[in-house]
Amino acid sequence: MASFRNIAVLGGTGHVGRPIVKALIDAGFNVTVVTRSLGSNQSEISDATFVTSDYTYESLVKIFTGQEAVVSAVAAGPPIAAQKVMVDAAIQAGVKRFIPSEYGSSSIDQPLEDFKKLMAPKTELIGYLREKSQLHPQFTWTCLSGGALLDMGIPNGVWGFSLSDRTATIFDTGEARFDSTTIPAMTRSVVSVLQKPADSGNKYLQIRSFTVSQSEILAALEDITQSKWSVSYVDAENLRQEGWKLLAGGNPKEGIENIVRGALFQADFLVTRNGKY
Ligand SMILES: NC(=O)c1ccc[n+]([C@@H]2O[C@H](COP(=O)([O-])OP(=O)(O)OC[C@H]3O[C@@H](n4cnc5c(N)ncnc54)[C@H](OP(=O)(O)O)[C@@H]3O)[C@@H](O)[C@H]2O)c1
Repeated sequence: MASFRNIAVLGGTGHVGRPIVKALIDAGFNVTVVTRSLGSNQSEISDATFVTSDYTYESLVKIFTGQEAVVSAVAAGPPIAAQKVMVDAAIQAGVKRFIPSEYGSSSIDQPLEDFKKLMAPKTELIGYLREKSQLHPQFTWTCLSGGALLDMGIPNGVWGFSLSDRTATIFDTGEARFDSTTIPAMTRSVVSVLQKPADSGNKYLQIRSFTVSQSEILAALEDITQSKWSVSYVDAENLRQEGWKLLAGGNPKEGIENIVRGALFQADFLVTRNGKY
């Protein structure tokens, strides 16, 4: 199977979607960004074609016609389940490959109960993709899981480090190790899948840049900045429980962030490439 040329990206204006769109354009693909409204974060990716969609089946079939692959980077939460309509429309339009919005910790064979619960819609979508690709053999999918996207979370403090004031929040001992992927490694993987689609059809691929602990990140940051950072400590289990309360109370963003950090940083989350823990 030769490299695809025409790629539609949903969620291409988001945190993960923007660098994916940029990498696809740099690699020479014709990129169409499917957005709910024009104007959102378009400036950095002006070389792409932008089209609007309300995510209805009819609108998506029309947009996907002529596209060989669809890459989804839609936000976590309700848009994950909305991808089923995108899959149906892609099949109807003759799209050959669908990459769903994953890019995080594995949503299959997940060892952490908290993550399993949070990722249930992603896991369900993979079941849907498997079912549909069996019914329509010309339609294939690839999932990319990368653990924590470290360089994305560091600037906004998600992983406990604030570059602007050189402070670190360490969860428990800071020694728990977790799998991590950089944004450039993740975007290179998307590009590779679309350049050599034959190798990755109907596969869940787990990519990793490195496995690291908060203590190691802090040591690296102190080394790079040539300064001693101010450190405070947080109980990961309390954070995890607080996260579930926030989620139940209607604050998904902070709730999910706290659950992820609380669960990840108290587990020794050393995930090997063959899926054994
Ligand atoms: N491993 C990690 O550390 C990590 C970190 C962050 C994200 N992720 C994963 O990467 C994927 C994308 O996450 P993200 O943080 O990049 O998402 P995001 O920036 O919050 O949103 C991505 C895009 O989704 C579209 N969207 C569609 N329906 C939406 C809705 N109801 N509410 C909000 N946005 C909606 C928006 O595009 P338009 O406005 O153009 O329609 C938005 O720009 C998710 O699967 C997430 O779990 C992983």
